[in-house]
Amino acid sequence: MQRRFHSSCDFRKAITIEELRAIAKRRLPAFALEYLEGGAEDEVTLRRNRDAFERIAFVPRTLADVSKRDLSVEVFGKKSPLPIAIAPTGSSGLFAPRGDLALARAAASFGIPFTQSTVSTLRLETVVEGAGGQHWMQLYMLKDRSVTEAIVSRAAAAGSEALVLTTDTVVFGNREWDRRHYVRPGKLELSSTLEVLLHPRWMWDVLVPNGMPVFENILEFMPDKNANPVRTRAFLVRQMDPSITFKEVAWLRSIWPRKLVVKGVLDVEDAGRLADAGVDGIIVSNHGARQLDGSVSPMDVLPKIAEAVGGRLCVMVDGGFRRGTDVVKAIGLGAHLVLLGRATLYGLAAGGEEGVKHALGILREEIDRTVGLLGVTSLSECATRLRPASY
Ligand SMILES: Cc1cc2nc3c(=O)[nH]c(=O)nc-3n(C[C@H](O)[C@H](O)[C@H](O)COP(=O)(O)O)c2cc1C
Repeated sequence: MQRRFHSSCDFRKAITIEELRAIAKRRLPAFALEYLEGGAEDEVTLRRNRDAFERIAFVPRTLADVSKRDLSVEVFGKKSPLPIAIAPTGSSGLFAPRGDLALARAAASFGIPFTQSTVSTLRLETVVEGAGGQHWMQLYMLKDRSVTEAIVSRAAAAGSEALVLTTDTVVFGNREWDRRHYVRPGKLELSSTLEVLLHPRWMWDVLVPNGMPVFENILEFMPDKNANPVRTRAFLVRQMDPSITFKEVAWLRSIWPRKLVVKGVLDVEDAGRLADAGVDGIIVSNHGARQLDGSVSPMDVLPKIAEAVGGRLCVMVDGGFRRGTDVVKAIGLGAHLVLLGRATLYGLAAGGEEGVKHALGILREEIDRTVGLLGVTSLSECATRLRPASY
């Protein structure tokens, strides 16, 4: 018998993140799907991010009373009901109308943080006001520092609780599968444009109401006032500042009053230097395998980094998380929090805000079940239940 997922497009029937992914695949035109899914070059790291979880096995206890289970963690001195948050993803308006608002509202309804990208298709103020909840603002250090500074002060004024500086995109990754949809930067291939016609629902939901979403969050600084994700990638790539060092982190520390997080750390020494620099958190991440192909998976380096700096700052991790078991493994290896990139985007593409809630609901249930099956009652006990899979 051949096993198959539900073939319906109803996200409510999805019982796994993988099924939401299958729905997202059917819904999105190829150029948008490739932007969501793709990794850099041969996608070795994309596979590695997933494979890393299989190398870790559980040794559950038995006959332990697990009738009451606590899934909360402490993040920046505050209790958070779940060990997850939503990672920053640019151009979310390509996947559903007002995508960032949908993500942020879903996060707020689960009591978890939402991180908004610099290259969001909504202004950060719109998202803070429209969603409430815990808003974190992601920052790219653009060559034009006045743009960077303006985003920092807007985030401070709007009430963002954390500023997340992404440091692994100073040189832009080589996403070849993505590039294949373009004749040249900003110009879709005719075949990719025509392929959009095969996705009437996407056209109707995303394109018809407002046209192609634009980079509203930084529109005032863009030379092109129709700056949409297809047209302006080249501008953004040119604007990334490859000269940044720990000096810029110190500068941000001096102008940003709340929690400061650095995203894109894979090296234990860098983690130590960031702790010395007074940052409040790091995200162990390879940018969802979209930057340097061949780089290690965050899960492979997490234990050493957590051991070195876990007592001094908040250690977060992202990359490849699709299951509750994945999240529990990361917490067991020393992470304080896990960030979700594609997992919640699949929900967004499959069903907008309700789709994201559905994705978060699946993960909450899976985390809860995993803790119970492990024979423990809290996430802090999970560390003792992990072994290398060869054990
Ligand atoms: C479509 C997409 C857009 C992204 N845009 C950004 C971004 O604007 N800023 C950023 O720091 N990271 C960005 N990322 C990386 C995510 O924050 C996160 O590190 C990554 O998605 C985690 O891997 P996962 O997708 O396997 O969960 C993006 C990822 C995806 C999939």
